[in-house]
Amino acid sequence: MVVKSSRQLVPDYIQNLRIYQAGKPIEEVQREKGLTRISKLASNENPLGPSPYAIKAMTQSLWDIHRYPDMHAYALKTALAELYNLKKENIILGNGSEGIMGYIMRAFLQPGDQVLTSEKTFIGFYILARGAGVQLVTTAMTEDDRYDVKAMVKKINHDTKVIYIANPNNPTGTYMTRQEFDYLMEYVPEHCIVIIDEAYYEFASEMADDYPNSMDYRYDNVITLRTFSKAYGLSGIRVGYGFAHEFFIENLTKVKLPFEPNSLAQVGAVQALEDRPHLERTLSENKRLLKELTEYLQGRGLKTIPSVTNFVTVNMGSEEKSQKLFEDLLNHGVIIRPLSSNEMNQYVRISVGTQKEMEHFYSAMEQVRI
Ligand SMILES: Cc1ncc(COP(=O)(O)O)c(C=O)c1O
Repeated sequence: MVVKSSRQLVPDYIQNLRIYQAGKPIEEVQREKGLTRISKLASNENPLGPSPYAIKAMTQSLWDIHRYPDMHAYALKTALAELYNLKKENIILGNGSEGIMGYIMRAFLQPGDQVLTSEKTFIGFYILARGAGVQLVTTAMTEDDRYDVKAMVKKINHDTKVIYIANPNNPTGTYMTRQEFDYLMEYVPEHCIVIIDEAYYEFASEMADDYPNSMDYRYDNVITLRTFSKAYGLSGIRVGYGFAHEFFIENLTKVKLPFEPNSLAQVGAVQALEDRPHLERTLSENKRLLKELTEYLQGRGLKTIPSVTNFVTVNMGSEEKSQKLFEDLLNHGVIIRPLSSNEMNQYVRISVGTQKEMEHFYSAMEQVRI
């Protein structure tokens, strides 16, 4: 039992947080449902897995696991600096891009600051902002489920310290166009830090002509975050990266845990970055299967949100219907994601899987009533 005085040890804004809910793990569904064939389409992972070169490098590096990682991550930073034509001083690495987001909160926010973002965006950001004890200000999305830049600009004031944009956005799959990004940046004052979370950047660059690659801009108050968890297929090893002005990177490095990313992640990421054919295969397969998935769902009369990512979000019309579809598909061994924890009760999100996983999904869909 927690005594009354213990409750006072934890600030209200932490006690009021809700624990992050991830996609249901495969083993859990196998255990609960007694099924062997499971297709997980719930966490926007790369269904093809990582580059085999990454696996090989990580396997070899297991023999050095008694040593601490290179805290400067020389090889990985060099590879990223070369790829993006930057200096290593402009790069930060962390335990997933979410880890770096946490460091941004720790390094830059103070009591009284506000953070500004949209409704229907990445749930991990809401948790981090609320957990920092600052005021979270959100604007509604447009009717077509995209960031409403005009509404956001109106909410900027002298207390706004961080603006968060996931581009493309999870869980809607939509993106902010170059024109909208330019508009937003025109109104962002110098005292604001803009986080552009490009976790799905590789997919969007492949699919949308007017998608703004934030690396083409180099604003001094923009931090671009990217990850090896999605297109590079390394979610399990936790490695993400960020680009920003040296001043920001230096201060972020002061609050960062020194040995992130771990040594396996560092070597795996270098190889993943070099294996361009694997990335290209990932992107072309995803594009093909996403189109097929969207057309299938629309053919079943479902309302999909146009996506430039590796998932599609569906408005089921009610929370009851979205929960029912999730449960029904689970009984057939297919895991999708109901979005109630994102306060999008009537929506479900379906990640693109392999061809085989998609066939499993389609055959399960034929057996459920929607
Ligand atoms: C928009 C967005 N940002 C960040 C993340 C977290 O990625 P990472 O695994 O690099 O922490 C996710 C993961 O789903 C995401 O959807």
